[in-house]
Amino acid sequence: MSVGLQMKKLKLLLAGLCLTLPLSLFAAGDLPVVPKAKTKATAEYGCVNPIDDMRRNHMDYLLHQRDDTMHRGIRTTKYSLAKCVECHISADDEGNYAEFGESEHFCSSCHNYAAVTIDCFQCHNDKPESAGLSQNSSSPTLPEGHENVASNLALPSGDAK
Ligand code: HEC
Ligand code: HEC
Ligand code: HEC
Repeated sequence: MSVGLQMKKLKLLLAGLCLTLPLSLFAAGDLPVVPKAKTKATAEYGCVNPIDDMRRNHMDYLLHQRDDTMHRGIRTTKYSLAKCVECHISADDEGNYAEFGESEHFCSSCHNYAAVTIDCFQCHNDKPESAGLSQNSSSPTLPEGHENVASNLALPSGDAK
């Protein structure tokens, strides 16, 4: 590793110590490259909610949506994980999709940068359904918020039925 790169890492580390995580992510000069969405959810602000709000609160929306679906049988699709993926994950020029974990994947672009780990894509498709299914049905137990799902074999389609 070059000295320059080490200095860069040290600077990033210091920046991270000085600011809280979500702020440092967007205040630091060295931002992650976030892939662009395919279309707009609303003409007004692009995503399903204003962008600043989505950057800060998407985790809460996703987890609430999951709770609503799993515990109370409510199926609103506004914060559907399948829909996020459908709109935010596109193929590159050669028709290949980035996998979750690669920095080219929308969700991983920030998460890799901010060292956030999520388990969602062990089960959920990390690509739009049109790209073919790639769900992993070998996960041993369903996570918190999924208690009412009978088995891992009932894989998420995400869309309201
Ligand atoms: C119909 C399309 C669409 C859907 C569905 C959608 N988004 Fe977005 N989202 C956008 C657009 C457009 C933007 C603005 C940035 C861009 O053009 O990529 C955006 C921006 C974001 C950003 C900020 C990205 C940045 O550049 O900092 C986050 C985070 C985000 N969306 C998360 C989500 C999540 C989580 C879901 C599912 C609950 C979701 N989005 C659903 C279209 C969509
Ligand atoms: C062990 C497998 C598994 C893991 C891990 C998992 N889920 Fe799910 N999830 C499911 C199953 C099964 C359903 C039900 C599928 C359906 O009803 O469409 C579901 C449904 C959902 C739904 C409602 C459907 C939709 O697309 O909106 C959301 C939202 C959701 N999960 C979010 C998450 C998030 C966020 C994580 C990570 C924090 C996560 N899930 C992790 C298996 C999993
Ligand atoms: C614009 C950057 C950005 C994008 C894009 C993004 N995230 Fe996040 N996400 C974050 C940050 C930063 C955190 C940590 C926030 C914190 O700890 O306060 C986070 C946290 C989460 C968490 C909670 C993790 C935990 O254990 O607390 C979930 C779930 C999540 N993101 C799901 C997603 C999904 C699914 C996508 C893609 C559809 C996505 N995120 C795209 C920045 C992003």
